[in-house]
Amino acid sequence: MKREETEAHITVRGLDMAYGDFVVQRDLNFDIRRGDIFVIMGGSGCGKSTLLRHMVGLTTPASGEIFFNGKSFWNSDEREQSEIKRGFGVLFQNGALWSSMTLEENISLPLKEYTELKAADIEEIVSLKLALVGLKGFGGYYPSEISGGMRKRAGLARAMALDPEILFFDEPSAGLDPVSAKLLDDLIRELRDSLGATIVLVTHELSSIFAIGDNSVFLDTETKTVIAGGDPCKLLEESVDPKVLSFLTRGERYE
Ligand SMILES: Nc1ncnc2c1ncn2[C@@H]1O[C@H](COP(=O)(O)OP(=O)(O)O)[C@@H](O)[C@H]1O
Ligand SMILES: [Mg+2]
Repeated sequence: MKREETEAHITVRGLDMAYGDFVVQRDLNFDIRRGDIFVIMGGSGCGKSTLLRHMVGLTTPASGEIFFNGKSFWNSDEREQSEIKRGFGVLFQNGALWSSMTLEENISLPLKEYTELKAADIEEIVSLKLALVGLKGFGGYYPSEISGGMRKRAGLARAMALDPEILFFDEPSAGLDPVSAKLLDDLIRELRDSLGATIVLVTHELSSIFAIGDNSVFLDTETKTVIAGGDPCKLLEESVDPKVLSFLTRGERYE
């Protein structure tokens, strides 16, 4: 078992990602502090979702390592890996709820699958999670009966069912109107503050990036690696890279 002394919650070292011969990104190196909202940004197709899939243990790196609390995920055995994964809550891009199940049933799924909890305890946890995302009393509703913003919040509740240490969200506010997107950002920040979870957020929404991002990396499509990182607001003030600035200003200043 390789170990690395580090304060970081998550550490990515020399990560190369590829689909067969097609290299998506190479030599990624960054640290994520415990309790941060860490933003993975970059243009469409640069590899943000791919990076998330590597971080949650779904896709094997072409090379490199990912450490959680200093422990290398890809050098751990299957049992250790599933233990690490047990601490993850994930909301995938377009991550949908099961339409044939109520919100209550959707959120209780991971609890039924991964715990031995009794039905009454599961019910209690589910209503707690629903309350946490502002959906108290909506447990009996089907996804089609609520708004898009409420569905996203229910998705967050499901990702949080097992009290994860790390939450991974891929474009959570995609398709939402600006007001609902802002509410979702506020909720993500509240969850971080109240639960102390580390949040890894893939997004290209500038408002989210600046409002709730503590730290970030910018993946570049052309050079296929990280070309910038840090506090997004500082990045906007201090970066001199035209690609980074163009992204952070939606091209208004630099295209
Ligand atoms: N399963 C796959 N097989 C082959 N290529 C893929 C696969 N998934 C994504 N890609 C390609 O990898 C690149 C990165 O994709 P993705 O991680 O989805 O980007 P992003 O989330 O930043 O938009 C894109 O060029 C995409 O076409
Ligand atoms: Mg994506």
